[in-house]
Amino acid sequence: MQILSGKKVLRAKFIFFCRFAKIFKLMTICYTLPQFYSAISFFSDSCEVGFVPTMGALHQGHISLVNRAAADCKIVVVSIFVNPTQFNNPVDLEKYPRTIEKDCEMLEKAGATIVFIPSIEEIYPQEDNRVFDLGGLDNNGEGPRRPGHFNGVAQVVTRLFDIVRPTHAYFGEKDFQQLAIIRYFSKKLDYPVKIVSCPTVREIDGLAMSSRNLLLTPQHRRVAPTIYKTLKRAAELATAQNLPQICPAPQELTKWVISEIDSEPLLKTEYAEIVDAITLSPVKSWGEADEIQLCTAVFAGAVRLIDNIKLK
Ligand code: PAJ
Repeated sequence: MQILSGKKVLRAKFIFFCRFAKIFKLMTICYTLPQFYSAISFFSDSCEVGFVPTMGALHQGHISLVNRAAADCKIVVVSIFVNPTQFNNPVDLEKYPRTIEKDCEMLEKAGATIVFIPSIEEIYPQEDNRVFDLGGLDNNGEGPRRPGHFNGVAQVVTRLFDIVRPTHAYFGEKDFQQLAIIRYFSKKLDYPVKIVSCPTVREIDGLAMSSRNLLLTPQHRRVAPTIYKTLKRAAELATAQNLPQICPAPQELTKWVISEIDSEPLLKTEYAEIVDAITLSPVKSWGEADEIQLCTAVFAGAVRLIDNIKLK
């Protein structure tokens, strides 16, 4: 007979639950690193592990990533962690919506294998002072407006990659600059992970799904679709035939986008930039890059919304 200490009893119970979960295809929720390591070693017998990092308050945009991961990989790990180091505004961090119970229900339905919901202490046992080379991809767009944001994203994503060790990781094109930056540092740091990009999921009226949409007042929610409507019109202009003849130069089109969005009194554009989709540097002419993206951030009252669209 083996007499187990308190911790060992808990671990044994947890492993028993994992076995049960595996047989009945139930989702396992882990709150600590030891729980996560037990669960992952139990589930992943060297098969493909798809990873979807999130900050919770899940919607169909997140679920589309989980669906894609489940189609590609036998094991799907989803993390829910509101990462303090990527918030440059403490009020924004405090206000960030938290809907853990509903999130877990959605993830179970979507076929997640393991949900990892760590505490701040599990992710940052000591202060993370690492400064990442982001290849200058943070020089424009969100970078200068949210100092330290992308370094914080790099801190948490590398920490999570080190813990989860995924073969595939899934990120949304909704956060276009984040996706480019994660691709960059994953390659630079030689993470053996395939970064998979997933298209932006939108509400019926075109507004990009976002956890922040929950914070919009009904009045701001009503006008927010103007953002995508304007981006779509800009893309139609830019992809029209005889592009140089009928489409204004990028700088002119940018001005038009800003004035169009700002003509709605409840919206205020923080920036609109037409950039090389690879380097994320603004372009002055349509011939300057093979792939071109229009990216914007708009205030709808106190809520800051971002969106983007491919122009070329
Ligand atoms: P979060 O905003 O929760 O987003 C998690 C993932 O869902 C990101 O890859 C994001 O691009 C994707 N996503 C969000 N809205 C989407 C939509 N409408 N359509 C498709 N994908 C969408 O992004 C973060 O969290 C954090 O920065 C994180 C990467 C988890 C690091 O903390």
